[in-house]
Amino acid sequence: MRRPEGRPVVDADLCTRCGRCVRVCSVNVLQPDEEGLPVPDGEAPCFVCGQCVAVCPAGAVSHPVMNPEHFRDLLPAEEGVSPRLLFDLLRKRRSVRNYTDEQVTEEEMMQLVEAAVQAPSGLNAQSWHFTIIQDPQELARIRRRIAAIYLCLLNMLEGRVSRFMLRLNVGAEAIATLEEARPLLEDIVEAQRSGGDRLLWGAPTLVVVHSPEDDPTGIESAHYAVGDMMLMATAMGLGTCLIGFLTAVAEHDERLRGFLGLPEGHTLDAALVVGHPDVEYLTSVDKRAAAINFI
Ligand SMILES: Cc1cc2nc3c(=O)[nH]c(=O)nc-3n(C[C@H](O)[C@H](O)[C@H](O)COP(=O)(O)O)c2cc1C
Ligand code: SF4
Ligand code: SF4
Repeated sequence: MRRPEGRPVVDADLCTRCGRCVRVCSVNVLQPDEEGLPVPDGEAPCFVCGQCVAVCPAGAVSHPVMNPEHFRDLLPAEEGVSPRLLFDLLRKRRSVRNYTDEQVTEEEMMQLVEAAVQAPSGLNAQSWHFTIIQDPQELARIRRRIAAIYLCLLNMLEGRVSRFMLRLNVGAEAIATLEEARPLLEDIVEAQRSGGDRLLWGAPTLVVVHSPEDDPTGIESAHYAVGDMMLMATAMGLGTCLIGFLTAVAEHDERLRGFLGLPEGHTLDAALVVGHPDVEYLTSVDKRAAAINFI
């Protein structure tokens, strides 16, 4: 795991012995000494989560791997985002499939990544990687390759022998999924043939999120990061759309992995297009009632 190593340092002169930093440390790194001064004597390794730094009202805790120049005071609860505004933002995020030609700037992309990395991650591993593809020729190459893969799969579904071979390879369930998605796959292939784009929806930017496969929660954590990224994009007036049709095939195709800059030993966790929406959503709509169990 690439998490940096280090333990917090407590300034004994500033510390008021309130005990907050001890209470928030989930792995008991900080232990009060006989006088109540927290000392980093716990046995477990420090997660480098910074919670001890963030709760100290006296500014007495520092962490050697964290730069205080990057810290920002958080708004007090009464001035922060209201549930009403947040809920509006959540409803405003839609999968945008119409984009203008305007490119997303590097600065905007950096803001999105900055939002993404605020997400929770298993063992605070933060193992996510973001590959940002904005070169139109690279995007076209990726689209071409995916359309070719889907065309090949569609052709295999047609022939009796090839369908049987495919079924042996991927299983009956995957065949059923392919059948269900067939009209969409045909659309992707047809659009590619006629100069359209029903895969990346003409978006000028593609973000591929990947993580080392030896991180047991890498994929899950990456998904939370992408969720944050989508919300931040919505707040910035940008549009996003997850591209599962890319993720579904890219991991198993070496050429595509290369086009996407996926390193050896990384899982492809999500693909997201970003751009300036050429459509405005004026109202929220019904989502289906969730299946809920109170126990
Ligand atoms: C895992 C996942 C994969 C998706 N893949 C695609 C995709 O390949 N192409 C696409 O246009 N939308 C894709 N979507 C977007 C869904 O179709 C969309 O979220 C859903 O229809 C609800 O609409 P909304 O996002 O506008 O609320 C994907 C969504 C998820 C969560
Ligand atoms: S950084 Fe996190 S894990 Fe490390 S001592 Fe502080 S609260 Fe505990
Ligand atoms: S939170 Fe700050 S003031 Fe309170 S015990 Fe920890 S170091 Fe001391």
